[in-house]
Amino acid sequence: MTMIDPILRLESVSKRFGGLCVIEELSLTVRRGVRTALIGPNGAGKTTIFNLITGMFAVDAGRILLDGADITATPSRRRIGHGIARSFQNIRLMPHLSTLENVMVGQHCRSRGLGGVLQPINLVPHNRWREAARAALADAGLIEYERSTVGSLPYGVQKHIELVRALMAQPRLLLLDEPAAGLNPAETEALQAQLEKICADAGLTLLVVEHDMHFIGALCEDVIVLDFGRKIAEGSPEDIRQNPLVQEIYLGAPAGEPMERHSAARSA
Ligand SMILES: Nc1ncnc2c1ncn2[C@@H]1O[C@H](COP(=O)(O)OP(=O)(O)OP(=O)(O)O)[C@@H](O)[C@H]1O
Ligand SMILES: [Mg+2]
Repeated sequence: MTMIDPILRLESVSKRFGGLCVIEELSLTVRRGVRTALIGPNGAGKTTIFNLITGMFAVDAGRILLDGADITATPSRRRIGHGIARSFQNIRLMPHLSTLENVMVGQHCRSRGLGGVLQPINLVPHNRWREAARAALADAGLIEYERSTVGSLPYGVQKHIELVRALMAQPRLLLLDEPAAGLNPAETEALQAQLEKICADAGLTLLVVEHDMHFIGALCEDVIVLDFGRKIAEGSPEDIRQNPLVQEIYLGAPAGEPMERHSAARSA
């Protein structure tokens, strides 16, 4: 019998925006150390779930448990301190700051606040925040960009910097919202290798929203499928590819082929 060791549990979580019920009594489990994908058509509620897990939105009903502790009412800022970090569907770096400054900001939950991280950039040439950020950039092969203004860098590089910044919080649970979107095939493959290495080295758990089924199949061990805010399937990537209901919501994507996002699926 396989022991399930959950790092994250959602129990009957619901969220509505005005009259629209976006997440409906959703329960799901993310197993510790397991790379898990959250998939579903546009508007299924994937980003909303990330916003509920990180505390950007409050749930209307249900509970969220991190390592068995109820964090449903924990403020967003403190959830980062508890080991949850994320990247965003649309890049949210500070475009006018340098790469190094952006990555240093990722450590703010481990310092006494933003000032503690940023102020010494000008005042102290060498401090541990700066050195940690430089080491992370070097590790990621991004050190050549440390002084570049982030907004001027190519999209793929910015996405990579955002990932490095999220890791600076030393999370145990990392949420990535469409990390491969907009990347070319070579960048996508590099991202997959980086994520595998990061998870193995840091022993962290990954929950990733993606539409690229090739990427998911290569990276993830568990897949959870969402439609209209409800879980309609879960299992291995292979189980999910073969699942008739999943094939149906992705409008006829034959088994084994990548499941592209299909906005028409919502009205089907
Ligand atoms: N702040 C908000 N206020 C009102 N409605 C919202 C808000 N955020 C999301 N929604 C609605 O909730 C539903 C789910 O949105 P969400 O962004 O979670 O979907 P998604 O699965 O991430 O889609 P996509 O694949 O396009 O990113 C959509 O109908 C969206 O319009
Ligand atoms: Mg989304």
